[in-house]
Parts: sequence; C-alpha cells; structure tokens
Amino acid sequence: MAITLAFDVYGTLIDTHSVTVALQEYVGEKAADFSRLWREKQLEYSFRRGLMQNYQQFSVCTSQALDYTCLSYKISLSDQDKQKLMEGYRVLPAFPDVKEGLEHVKTEGFRMFAFSNGSADAVEMLLQNAGIRAYFDGVVSVDALKIFKPSPAVYCHFLRSAHSTGAESWMISGNPFDVIGSISAGMRAAWIQRSPETIFDPWEIQPTLILNSLSPLAVQIKNAST
Ligand code: LAC
Repeated sequence: MAITLAFDVYGTLIDTHSVTVALQEYVGEKAADFSRLWREKQLEYSFRRGLMQNYQQFSVCTSQALDYTCLSYKISLSDQDKQKLMEGYRVLPAFPDVKEGLEHVKTEGFRMFAFSNGSADAVEMLLQNAGIRAYFDGVVSVDALKIFKPSPAVYCHFLRSAHSTGAESWMISGNPFDVIGSISAGMRAAWIQRSPETIFDPWEIQPTLILNSLSPLAVQIKNAST
C-alpha cells in the first residue's frame, strides 16, 4: 500500500510565531501575545469566510487579521511597516526538527505533499525559502476550490489531487482543527503537538497519533500502517 502524507504548512512545517522578533519593534514585550492573536484571527477569518461562502485568498485573511490585531493593541502601522510584516510572513522559517523529520520520511519512501490553506504560490515560496521544497512530490492548495480547511471538500480535493484514498493517507498537522477535519473526512492524522501547552479540542475525535516533533514521524507512521 502506497502511503501518502499531507503536511500542513503554517504551524506544522513553518513557524508562524517567528514573526515575534519583527513585532518587538512595534509592540515590545507584547510581541508574543500580539502574534498569537494575529494567528487566531487569521484562522477565525478563514473559518468565517468558509461558512459565509465569501472566499478570499489566505493572505487576505492574514492581512485583515493583522489590521484587527493592530486595532486591538491600539497601534497604527504605516503602510510600509505593514508591508514589511506581510513580506516577513512570506519567508517564515521552518521549525528546527523539520528537515531531519522530512529526510526520514523520504527515506521510508512515503509519498509527500504540502497541503495548505495558503495559495500554491505562497506555499511554493515558503518551502523554497526554508530549503525544504525538494522533499515534496507536490503542493496542494485549497485555493483551487475557493474554500478553506476544515471543509470536507478540501480533504477530498487533496485525495483526488494526490491520487490517493482516505485509508492510504495521513494528514500531518500541528493544528487540532485540521487533524479533526481530516479524520472526519476519512483520513488518518498525526497531531504534532509543538508545545505541551497546546490543548487538543475535547471533541469525540482523537488523533491517530500524537507526536511532539516530526523526528519520530517516519517510524511511527510505518508502525501504524503495517
Ligand atoms: C495551513 C494552515 C491551516 O497551512 O495553517 O493550511
């Protein structure tokens, strides 16, 4: 059985909170909290746009969430500063364990795709910049469907694009809503719990696997798939 892995991008491969360093210039010690609210609003806006059937690219959710967060913190950014932060979001780094983890997965011969809310262009650029694009057989974006995760339609779109089935595919994600969404749509899923403080939503759906980094992923998927 050819196992196919769908890697979520923001928050799984790519560290969205590394913008904290750039944010310190504007909000000082509140940078980490600012970054958290920015990320939460970005995701909320994608969920709401999905429900409203009023799609705009994920970068629009990111930009509007930044505006919201600035309003909330009562700071006013110049157009140039905002552009600088948005540019920074296009070249975020990978988490430190990612290269080694992907290397192990590649060695095992699993099929590997990046699967994201981000547009294909944005994801290609992030992966290239982080030096990890070569590990992937392809990039699948929700942009082709104009609806966001966790709509079941996007997981179905992934399976069709990757020529795979739910039984043969795993979602690998640091985002609990993505893990729950993919399992609800018939895939298996590994939750990468990147911080011990992150809470998995107490619903009726549990991750197939829980790992705290990508390092043990290859071995664990191999064991769970045989
Ligand atoms: C992604 C979002 C969920 O990369 O972070 O799809």
